[in-house]
Amino acid sequence: MHGWDEDSEALFKQIVEFVSFRMRMDPPPLDRTYSPAELMAEAGHTITPEGLGGTAALDVFANVLARANLSTDHPRSLAFIPNAPTEAASMFDLVVGASSIFGGSWLIGSGAVYAENQALRWIADLIGYPAGAGGVFTPGGTQGTLAALVTARELARNRRKAAGLAMPRRWILLTSSESHSSVRQVGDVMDVDTVTVDVAHSAIPGVLTGAQVAAALDQVDSADEVFAIVAAGGTTNYGIVDDLTAIVDVAEPRQIWVHVDGAYGGAALAAPSVSWRFAGLDRCDSFIVDPHKWLFAPYDACALLYRHPEFARAALTQRAGYLDVLTESDEWNPADYAVHLSRRARGLPFWFSLATHGTDRYTAAVEHTLAVAAYAAAEIRIRPELELVREPQLSVVVLRRVGWDLPDYQDWSADLLASGTAFVAPTLHEGAPATRLAIVNPQTQRADIDVVLDSMR
Ligand SMILES: Cc1ncc(COP(=O)(O)O)c(C=O)c1O
Repeated sequence: MHGWDEDSEALFKQIVEFVSFRMRMDPPPLDRTYSPAELMAEAGHTITPEGLGGTAALDVFANVLARANLSTDHPRSLAFIPNAPTEAASMFDLVVGASSIFGGSWLIGSGAVYAENQALRWIADLIGYPAGAGGVFTPGGTQGTLAALVTARELARNRRKAAGLAMPRRWILLTSSESHSSVRQVGDVMDVDTVTVDVAHSAIPGVLTGAQVAAALDQVDSADEVFAIVAAGGTTNYGIVDDLTAIVDVAEPRQIWVHVDGAYGGAALAAPSVSWRFAGLDRCDSFIVDPHKWLFAPYDACALLYRHPEFARAALTQRAGYLDVLTESDEWNPADYAVHLSRRARGLPFWFSLATHGTDRYTAAVEHTLAVAAYAAAEIRIRPELELVREPQLSVVVLRRVGWDLPDYQDWSADLLASGTAFVAPTLHEGAPATRLAIVNPQTQRADIDVVLDSMR
């Protein structure tokens, strides 16, 4: 199986051909979801004692399996949060895969870690974090938030220990009703209680304010302790950024960790037209942004940054005799900053694209998507059959079609996908059906928005 031979040479050519075919498609077909029965009928059993051979296995992938995945990089893929990697980033993913890099430690992967850290530093600079800030790329925002909150709780525990205080009855995590489901999942995994502040009727609907946080903290039983607040740096539903300055003003004197979930919206830090919405982020303790969402990298990569990474290192470093050579050194070991040990150097495709194109092109690309989102909102405002549910802060636009019920949205969405026109999904706003366009792809143009809106006539 191992070793470069004639078969490898031939397969390599076929793989490169497939990759370049896929990447040249402009746009790629949206494709569709297959049922397990359809896949069994078309792909059959692919794992056999003798093996199919590379050419046949690639054939199954190219002709069956690849078509059974929706192309999230299609310019009219606007459901959930799409993905829009640059060609440079996607190509470099192949390089990472071919290079057997262990991205967990400086000793083994110093070159990769150096490059990943430069990409992380770009984000840290956008935030305004101090020179000592740092972090790691995790597989996704859920994992990033988990690491940050484990760190926060460990710090709170250590403070209690140092003060000679008993542990609280329950550890509590405070967040808003608009925060992502991953926050509640992390709370469950950590066996902490999640207190959710309802922000549907905030001064600016959807925005968690400092006053709401203060009021919620006052209601917490004195036997319990709030160890962290998770604020949104662009909610998934509406792209809303919480009032970070006011939240941190409340949290700081009480020594409560503030984590900001910018998995989707954090990319907006690169766009001067909206980055002011993140004022106060530099004072927050940790932050995540997924380059696989709006920073043009392939799945899967979340950039997790800590203002003071030493707390994460103390909380998260795995200890074992055979690891001492790594953990006892002063070098930067990415393994120490999240819940993992072995890791793919998954920040490298993002780094390569950033190094190739430069940060100005990133700013321009994010600004372009924001302009297209603003165009979508303006069009919705002037079309009598449509209703803008909320003014977009970033690049998520939520709208209603006057007179439509959920089945109408479902049929419309299914028709658009079946005809290969667009991928959009129904959502709920205050219990009523609506739809949402998440615009993160710089190849999405105003004309694409017109196609989708025209289809709602
Ligand atoms: C705001 C927000 N936070 C967290 C997540 C979870 O990130 P991941 O899917 O990378 O784990 C998402 C995913 O869509 C998100 O939009």
